[in-house]
Amino acid sequence: MSANSPPNDASPSDKIRILMVCLGNICRSPTAHGVLEKLIQNKGLSKFIEVDSAGTSTYHIGAHPDSRSIAAARRRGYSLEKQVARQVRASDFQEFDYVLAMDVENLQHLERAAPPGSKAKVQLLLDYSAEATESVPDPYFGAGGQGFETVLDLVEDTCRRLFEQLEDELSISEKEQ
Ligand code: 4NP
Repeated sequence: MSANSPPNDASPSDKIRILMVCLGNICRSPTAHGVLEKLIQNKGLSKFIEVDSAGTSTYHIGAHPDSRSIAAARRRGYSLEKQVARQVRASDFQEFDYVLAMDVENLQHLERAAPPGSKAKVQLLLDYSAEATESVPDPYFGAGGQGFETVLDLVEDTCRRLFEQLEDELSISEKEQ
């Protein structure tokens, strides 16, 4: 094992867990979920980093992602079609290390919903972006498909940066053991 590789095994509590959150859990957060998941799988780190997604609303509970999100993601090599929308629950703030909102309104919702003393860092996904933008624009009501491409552009760039930070976190926690 090289000095920078993670340990061979990880108990569930050793994993870094990330929850991506938007309003409906059918467009932006499933995209972020699928993009980060592919980065994790490509590096063989699924035992050490886990990603999920949820919505702050009840609107689309039980639905698969929007067909426009699925199609745009598929053109870039990501598979979203097996995901199923769910709502954020109180236990998420204890089970996940990072709860990352796609926009400021959803961040404010999450900050109100987080039980006092919960473990998760509640942040904007775009806190990890090189861009000065705070929110991933909601593509749901937009005409045409450009909104879904904009979501992918922002999310791909930001998830690459986030993933590098998570890899650093893993190698630091291994050195501490
Ligand atoms: P998302 O997009 O929050 O990125 O999943 C939306 C999906 C559905 C609705 C709004 C935003 N809606 O109002 O139904």
